[in-house]
Amino acid sequence: LTKWTVDDDGNLLGEISVPLKPGVVGGTLSTNPAAALGLEICGARSARELAELMAAVGLAQNFAALRALAGSGIQKGHMHLHARSLATNAGAAEYQLDEVVARLLASGDVKAWKAEEILKDLSGSEVNDDAVTATAAGKIILLGEHAVVYGRHALAIPIPNAVRAAVRPCDNTTTVSIKEWGLRAEVTAASSDGVAAAINRILDELDARDTRFAIDVSSCLPMGMGLGSSAAIAVAITRAVARSLGQDIDDERVNEIAYACEKLAHGTPSGVDNTLSCFSKAMLFQNRGSLHIQPLQLAEEIPLVVAFSRQAGPTQEQVAGVRARYELDTVRYEALFDQIDDLSLAGASALQARRYDELGRLMNVCHGLLNAIEVSTPDLENIVAIARDHGAVGAKLTGAGGGGSVVALCPGTEDAVRTALERSGYQTLRTQTAGGCANE
Ligand code: PMV
Repeated sequence: LTKWTVDDDGNLLGEISVPLKPGVVGGTLSTNPAAALGLEICGARSARELAELMAAVGLAQNFAALRALAGSGIQKGHMHLHARSLATNAGAAEYQLDEVVARLLASGDVKAWKAEEILKDLSGSEVNDDAVTATAAGKIILLGEHAVVYGRHALAIPIPNAVRAAVRPCDNTTTVSIKEWGLRAEVTAASSDGVAAAINRILDELDARDTRFAIDVSSCLPMGMGLGSSAAIAVAITRAVARSLGQDIDDERVNEIAYACEKLAHGTPSGVDNTLSCFSKAMLFQNRGSLHIQPLQLAEEIPLVVAFSRQAGPTQEQVAGVRARYELDTVRYEALFDQIDDLSLAGASALQARRYDELGRLMNVCHGLLNAIEVSTPDLENIVAIARDHGAVGAKLTGAGGGGSVVALCPGTEDAVRTALERSGYQTLRTQTAGGCANE
């Protein structure tokens, strides 16, 4: 298919002949956002331009393959690539990848079992047996985000045991790693943002500034996706550090400390994230200067699908944006928050009685109001539309918005909704969402 020659001026000339018939409208472009995004990135304005681009890429790949065959051979690079995918499949975090790949290649056994063995060994040296562990829940807000910052009710359910922290005292600097996020950081007195700042606060609150810890966190919650990951990390670390110090602190105190960490991260949090994380119970939550928590009894796991948009939603920014618009139009925003409050109250009764159709309608109205206060995005709207089209009785953004996640209520249609979303290129949360099981 290809022909390589050198012209009279010494230039390398490549030619490729392949039948190509791509399109730039309709077809998969309207159903698969990944295809539309690809087209936008490459900037092709016509089917012909796209075909030319594809041919050019094919030609470049062909040249790379010829070069590899004519050079040191492709085996070396291939084994490296293979080792990397084995390491990833074995569950190596980003920061562990190079080490696992190097050890795998050096062992001569580039096999899945070997990758698992090396990773176990590596993780074992990071968290040894004297580590003390604790877990915390993530959360899904079914109704009431943003309004809850203004003293209204929010209806939320836990994602039990979503985050685990393992801590062990050490002699050097305090360190923290979050495997799934590829994050590894030192915690020094000067650390003033992110998880390191939260750890400083936790150590202060527990009177442990002079003790050093190696802290390893594993999280099934992605970062900044509206599922309460920062609060869950603060709760799990607080519990594990307190246990490691032999301090017996109750959940109220853990909640207080995690709330202080949330204030560092988000400015003016309502406290819904840390409270859910700490108590791991479905609840109607309200904070009007003091907490009012009404735990809900759920008879079964709620048929939900949570999908991630392509953008993280920075909570602080979204909350600040709503605050600015609230200041400009306080009467209207107060009325919108009152309506959201009504939805949360009605939703709590519907949820407990398993009246899912009604709860779904309330979620749809809530999404409309969240859109009205400008925290939705085109991507979130797309996810909501796909979920509803495939049988969700309700779908709305959850958490701060501006990116983040959508929660869809799908009695009897969970599989269809999940499949449709994944086919459209959206990842979904694959973990048990509610049922009230306690943290360890
Ligand atoms: O996006 P998250 O998981 O941080 O949830 C934020 C929920 C808000 O109501 C927008 C803020 C809050 O403090 O309650």
